[in-house]
Amino acid sequence: MFYRLLKFTVVIFTIAFLSELAHTASPPPIEATSSPFLCQEASATCSCPLLARKISSEHNSRCASIILDNKSSYNVRLVVASLEDGRWVTSDDSGDVDIDCSPRTKRFANDELEVLSSVTSHFLGGIRGYATFHLDDDASTNFTIYWDAPLLGDNSYGITGLPTTKYQVALQNNLDNTVFQVTVRPVSTYSTDWGSIFSVLSLIGI
Ligand SMILES: *[C@@H]1O[C@H](CO)[C@@H](O)[C@H](O)[C@H]1NC(C)=O
Ligand SMILES: *[C@@H]1O[C@H](CO)[C@@H](O)[C@H](O)[C@H]1NC(C)=O
Repeated sequence: MFYRLLKFTVVIFTIAFLSELAHTASPPPIEATSSPFLCQEASATCSCPLLARKISSEHNSRCASIILDNKSSYNVRLVVASLEDGRWVTSDDSGDVDIDCSPRTKRFANDELEVLSSVTSHFLGGIRGYATFHLDDDASTNFTIYWDAPLLGDNSYGITGLPTTKYQVALQNNLDNTVFQVTVRPVSTYSTDWGSIFSVLSLIGI
């Protein structure tokens, strides 16, 4: 009897502890990670950042690419993209392959990804640009991704306009910080990791 009571108490505490853990371990609305840049297939998502890198290393200059990964469950549309300094990587750069990394054409690598690549356009130049997207949600949200690749120093990137109460935004820097990937997801209300709770339950033999 005592043993069962003890076992029961342990289980209750474990569940309480794990849900606390799952709660505190749930990602903040904007999380930044750095992970290897993975190219699964020959897509614009993959080719544009690599092509931009190739151009900039050949000219000893700068490059910056942004990738928008739409997991928002709403349609995302590019409203405007502009460069104050630098130029887009276009099909003129890619030769036979014919990939265009400029905002002129719709180039969703699949239904969810948008990629834009920019490089330095003149001697001792940098890159400074922004892209505004429209999210087809109830609030008709517009948000802007901006980037800055100065002649000297690190690339910097940012995003404004996405309400973090509604969207979880994961930011990822890849390829030596020349790629900025933004993943937009709806904020999930349930963050308890039931998987690990059940595996603990089975471990202690419930
Ligand atoms: C955005 O993602 C949603 C689903 O996640 C999809 O239905 C929609 O087609 C996507 N739209 C664009 C333009 O990426
Ligand atoms: C977002 O931009 C569109 C124009 O592209 C505008 O009609 C809409 O009102 C804007 N949404 C908000 C919330 O400001």
